Amino acid sequence: MYYNICNYHKTGPCRYRDRKGTMSIIIEVNQLSVHFPLSTATVKAVDGVDLAVEERETLAIIGESGSGKSVLGTAILGLFPPTCTVSGTITYEGKDLLCLSEEQLRSVRGLQIAWIPQNPASALNPSMRTGLQVGEPLSRQAGWTRERIHERVLELFAKFRVLPPEERSQAYPDSYSGGMLQRSLVAMGTSASPKVIIADEPTKGVDTLNKESIATAFREVRNQGITLVVITHDLDFARELADRVVVMYNGAVLEISDKERFFERPLHPYSAGLLRSLPENGLVPIPGRATARDGAFTSGCRFRSRCPGAGERCAEEPPLIRARHDDAVRCWNYD
Ligand SMILES: Nc1ncnc2c1ncn2[C@@H]1O[C@H](COP(=O)(O)OP(=O)(O)OP(=O)(O)O)[C@@H](O)[C@H]1O
Ligand SMILES: [Mg+2]
Repeated sequence: MYYNICNYHKTGPCRYRDRKGTMSIIIEVNQLSVHFPLSTATVKAVDGVDLAVEERETLAIIGESGSGKSVLGTAILGLFPPTCTVSGTITYEGKDLLCLSEEQLRSVRGLQIAWIPQNPASALNPSMRTGLQVGEPLSRQAGWTRERIHERVLELFAKFRVLPPEERSQAYPDSYSGGMLQRSLVAMGTSASPKVIIADEPTKGVDTLNKESIATAFREVRNQGITLVVITHDLDFARELADRVVVMYNGAVLEISDKERFFERPLHPYSAGLLRSLPENGLVPIPGRATARDGAFTSGCRFRSRCPGAGERCAEEPPLIRARHDDAVRCWNYD
């Protein structure tokens, strides 16, 4: 089935349509909206997102707190809070995930697309030995005996430096450091050899040393040819790992750029603001704050109240415009 997956501005041909024949797209998100109707307003956590993840790439999704990164990530796994309304499509290898039965989804989730959650401490059961939990995705696959799973867990622990493997596999999660917990989750994510791993804030709350060990673990994952989607606030981590950077703001994608070009010359004024707020660039905060996701955004650029260059035209929301090479930006400056 063909999905017209992007809304690139009419002045440029659609990147994804152009390249469809020559490249392999593993996940396509098309006009995805995940809204939470509340009594006073509707929270548009994800609002008309188009995104194509290429096979074997590492994609970093960045953006301020509340921009919709986690809701987007969990949506790709077909996980939705009960109170939300969902529209659009998410395809994985051509299958529309939103049309699969719960049983079909279970065969994708964890096995083909693995999720590494935002908070490793609460992701693991404190009363169960860590090794058993790390091997759990394998226990759902036919033909894996307990002994074989245990051996695989030890191999993974050695690879991701959860050491010494045998001792660590018998231990409970509360005896682990933050970095080691995160590396065990990476081991768990890769245990069933998935094609895609989505990791939510893998470096949150860990020190520099542990951050480096987590980056090494992710490089190992990438070397295995696994497609990686990393949701992060940590721009250094994104710079170190990613091939492309996706910038989210108030439920929408504002920029998709090649990593090198992004850090050298970001396209969107919001992206430029994010980079200026890095310590090496003077820690300059973006003035103002992201406002609530309610109807106020339906008729204009979501960033305009904070944008130094906002003009009359910004009262209309720009589409994603191809600005250079394959990079796209939701800003009229590039029209
Ligand atoms: N179950 C829910 N009910 C109502 N609103 C929700 C629910 N889940 C998320 N939201 C809202 O959706 C918006 C996006 O949330 P999300 O968790 O995706 O943000 P995020 O970009 O991951 O933020 P952070 O960087 O802090 O993790 C937020 O305003 C959040 O409050
Ligand atoms: Mg989040």
